Amino acid sequence: MNNRKIGISIIGCGSAAPQNQLSNQHLSQIVETSDEWISSRTGMKTRHISNETESLSQLSAIAAQNALTMAGMAASDVDLIILATSTPDDLFGSGSKVQHLMGATKAVAFDLTAACSGFVFALITAAQYIRTGMYHNVVVIGSDLLSRWVDWSDRTTCVLFGDGAGAVVCQGTTGGDRLLAGALYSDGSLNDCLNLAYQSQSQSLVEDITVQSGTYQPITMNGREVYRFAVAKVPEVIEKAMFQAGITSEDIDWLLLHQANQRIMDAVAQRLKLPQEKVLSKIAQYGNTSAASIPLTLDAAVREGKVKPGDIIAASGFGAGLTWSSAIFRWGQF
Ligand code: UT7
Repeated sequence: MNNRKIGISIIGCGSAAPQNQLSNQHLSQIVETSDEWISSRTGMKTRHISNETESLSQLSAIAAQNALTMAGMAASDVDLIILATSTPDDLFGSGSKVQHLMGATKAVAFDLTAACSGFVFALITAAQYIRTGMYHNVVVIGSDLLSRWVDWSDRTTCVLFGDGAGAVVCQGTTGGDRLLAGALYSDGSLNDCLNLAYQSQSQSLVEDITVQSGTYQPITMNGREVYRFAVAKVPEVIEKAMFQAGITSEDIDWLLLHQANQRIMDAVAQRLKLPQEKVLSKIAQYGNTSAASIPLTLDAAVREGKVKPGDIIAASGFGAGLTWSSAIFRWGQF
């Protein structure tokens, strides 16, 4: 415990997505929309949607296993699993189920909820456990099945979201810290902009005592407000992390943003004076997969051979809460 020289390296990534795909053309049969509107406003073409046999726990475990395979690590070596999700299979948490499915018998697991910022929040949380020496091998998973909570009659939200899971393996190292900087923020005064809220329904129980037995309502979003917030806050939180890391935007090899809208990614890149070629995007294929979007996109870029060991990645998650966050890290073992 308490060895201050322990740093973090991120040595494996993996992902998983449901089999079924819902295209923009499909959506135009459900609500009044078009491929032209969705593509030009968001960059999305299709998204993966889970069926009744695909659970969040299963997809998360597959993503984690793929990350462990890349890292050359066995599930039995994992000390801690952090599952970032807002859509668990069980409100008590799905982390332990994922731990069981992975066969990570000695790991402790818990859920972390920070919506689309969840993966970066979980990565920074994992780093605290590693730096203090409490845990050595940590799997961080970002996973969401938002399709479960979409109002399929609301064209302003139903075209945006898809399902998926992504994971990374973090390991303690004494050979230099590869997580160069990170920053996390919340502003609950803007909470009403994006919700998947519980709506209570009173039920009389006995005498003058009532209980609440409602349910969660489908996603609602003030898209324009969240767009404005993202374009203002994301460059700022990345600039803060760059300052902390002692680097400039010229040192960044890849910009890896939460995949909410291609226009947001382009605007942030422009603000940071980063060329388009440095923006990692899988939004056309996956849509907005909430906590999964950053590790899913990272995994695709690593497997395509784009991201190479030693590359500097500036990641940022943002969304409901409202929350926003950044992490700057060097990828892989090198
Ligand atoms: O992951 C969490 C974080 N989320 C985000 O960061 C999302 C941020 N917001 C956005 O990405 C964008 O605001 C949206 C993609 C959600 C919407 O794009 P927009 O360019 O801001 O559109 P808008 O809301 O200003 O709507 C423009 C028009 C409206 O019609 P009127 O009022 O101009 O007649 C909408 O009713 O587009 C209409 N519209 C649609 N039309 C066809 C809204 N949704 C659709 C649709 N198909 N699916």
